[in-house]
Amino acid sequence: MIKIPIAIVGAGGMGGRHLRALDALYKSGMSNVELIAVCDIRRENAIHLADKAEEILGSRPIVFTSMEQMKKDRPDIQAVDITTDSGSHHLIAELAFELGYNVLCEKPLSLTIRGCNRVIEAWKKSGKVLSVGEQERRDPICRLNKAIIDEGIIGNPYSFIQGSARGGNDIIIWPWRHYKNIGGIFVDAGVHTVDQMMYYLGDIEEVFAVSKIWEPKRYKGEKIGVANFYDHWVNEVPDEIDANAEDMVISTMKYKNGAVGQWTSFFAAHGEVTEYGMIYGSKGSIRPAKQRRGDPLTITLDGAGTISGNDVLELVPNFHLDELPARLFGSERLGSYNTPFEDADRFLVALEYFELGQCIADGTKPEVDAYIGRKDLAVCNAALESSILGRSVTIEEIENEKTSVYESSINDHWKI
Ligand SMILES: NC(=O)c1ccc[n+]([C@@H]2O[C@H](COP(=O)([O-])OP(=O)(O)OC[C@H]3O[C@@H](n4cnc5c(N)ncnc54)[C@H](O)[C@@H]3O)[C@@H](O)[C@H]2O)c1
Repeated sequence: MIKIPIAIVGAGGMGGRHLRALDALYKSGMSNVELIAVCDIRRENAIHLADKAEEILGSRPIVFTSMEQMKKDRPDIQAVDITTDSGSHHLIAELAFELGYNVLCEKPLSLTIRGCNRVIEAWKKSGKVLSVGEQERRDPICRLNKAIIDEGIIGNPYSFIQGSARGGNDIIIWPWRHYKNIGGIFVDAGVHTVDQMMYYLGDIEEVFAVSKIWEPKRYKGEKIGVANFYDHWVNEVPDEIDANAEDMVISTMKYKNGAVGQWTSFFAAHGEVTEYGMIYGSKGSIRPAKQRRGDPLTITLDGAGTISGNDVLELVPNFHLDELPARLFGSERLGSYNTPFEDADRFLVALEYFELGQCIADGTKPEVDAYIGRKDLAVCNAALESSILGRSVTIEEIENEKTSVYESSINDHWKI
């Protein structure tokens, strides 16, 4: 198989996770991309990732601190995988298209609609591929969840109820997750949640929400980062920071198909941690998949009781995974899996890389394209806008910048 030369741009926590994903793809026997270079404005981070790549992949990528230099020195590189902090995505993706690269860009595509539109304009001019790194829907149990809903097993969707509460006044993952202009935690995590909510039930069209910053001072707690992906930089985290991004947003959302969603995203919760989700329809309910955990779905149907685990597969006899996820997770029909979180995480990103390679090679369209990426962001920002305006906000208003009070300071910060 032809291997498309690629580079990772952004060698922090997620850059390392993407490297592990490449390892999974290489070992699957289906690799269609090859890591040639890593680029980071912090040379030491790029060197660290290149060291890791040499150890994990067995070959050392070339280190760059600018994409322009990379283009000059290695014109054979066809695609960049952008894993820089979220605030910078629009700048880096725009430059990447100007330089003639295909792009896989981590979510969110940008922090504002204007930023997304800058990327979309550059992408359209370039004629290259743009895929947004939204991996969670690619989880085998999420695919099964989607098949169950599409098959009408729980009937017409009535409601999606979803929430999580945790965090207290700890720094969550990394300090910039508390800075509005770089990518606050509500948007950072929220685009994943919204993507799932719309993947299952279709587009959301209107949101009413209340948001808060409960904990404007955040402290370095016992746990920083995700798994051990950020350990290398742990000493760089200050003991305390001033947070200016929302840490609680409670939303009610209307779907285009008439369903109603309720979403609580609470990152300043002290005490007991909670996480819940249910989708209700006219015939029953489904407790949706928790991606990367492998837990079985639970379906409860009027008159038929509760169905879980592999029995769920009988409800969708035609459901099967594509070849690569089936190879990575071990079967093309899974009702649950025991793969550890770190492996499930890299397998899902491996699927993104594989799809990128396919899109470049044969014109396949990416599943999560620029418009889905922009809409995922628009729903989050509609919630934040709604809280400021004290009224419900449509996604159409946000996507067309008819109101952008929340986004305006971010646009000002980035001078866009
Ligand atoms: N899909 C997921 O599950 C998931 C999980 C974690 C993070 N992410 C996303 O990945 C991205 C990176 O997050 P992270 O936690 O790795 O951040 P990070 O802060 O750990 O790493 C960012 C890296 O980008 C580099 N960088 C910044 N500006 C740059 C530029 N102009 N050119 C080159 N390098 C630059 C930084 O020096 C740093 O090394 C974010 O957008 C985040 O939302 C996605």
